[in-house]
Amino acid sequence: MDPQGAQQPMSVRDWLRSLEVFAGPSAEFDPADAPAEPVELFLGWLREAVAAGVPDAHAMTLSTVGEDGGPDARVLILKNVDDDGWQFAVHAHSPKGLQLAGRPRAALTFYWSQQGRQIRVRGTVEPASPERSAADLLARSPSARAEVLLGCQSRHLHSAEERESAFRAALARIESQPDLVSPEWTLHTLVPTAVEFWQADKDRLHTRLRYERSHRTGPWERHMLWP
Ligand SMILES: Cc1cc2nc3c(=O)[nH]c(=O)nc-3n(C[C@H](O)[C@H](O)[C@H](O)COP(=O)(O)O)c2cc1C
Repeated sequence: MDPQGAQQPMSVRDWLRSLEVFAGPSAEFDPADAPAEPVELFLGWLREAVAAGVPDAHAMTLSTVGEDGGPDARVLILKNVDDDGWQFAVHAHSPKGLQLAGRPRAALTFYWSQQGRQIRVRGTVEPASPERSAADLLARSPSARAEVLLGCQSRHLHSAEERESAFRAALARIESQPDLVSPEWTLHTLVPTAVEFWQADKDRLHTRLRYERSHRTGPWERHMLWP
């Protein structure tokens, strides 16, 4: 060990600065070729991300507003996209479920690093019918349904044993009653008023295209944005 020759440890700031960003080959995106509807472009980019092997390409950050007016955000799995909007499911008693019931507006963010692509979706959030929510729940695995049945998401957990025994009991109920539905499980649709497509460029000439409309049945306008 030679203290004279020992290297100074890199500061966190310098270490972060040394990391590369947009390292992958930039994907092609010409806004002039963008379709009239953002859903079509979203599905095209999602398919390209999946085909390129992006892990969990259908995972997205859902941002909501809490009762105190502060923001909150977490990653969820996208359930579906159709002409109405982007769908996801939550437990009504979870923090995000309560936040959406109090303030039914949200944002979704996707990031696919291999393509240097980000998509941002903003709008109002509407719960689906109990029948559609139940169908979504029943299509999930028994263990996923058991977690929903517990209905304890994000509460303080006192021990791993407490969780294990409650989970086993919930799983046994699901197995003995395969049609058991937790009515708190709620499918939601984010009906967009803005959808932005962001394509990285190595020289920082990023391309941004935002679809905007003032109401849900209105026509989409398309605008390029400064990067
Ligand atoms: C890749 C990934 C996918 C996830 N998918 C879901 C999901 O579909 N539903 C869900 O309730 N939580 C999901 N989670 C957990 C959430 O991020 C979060 O921890 C949980 O929903 C509690 O959030 P809340 O306290 O804001 O209600 C996922 C987490 C990750 C990292």
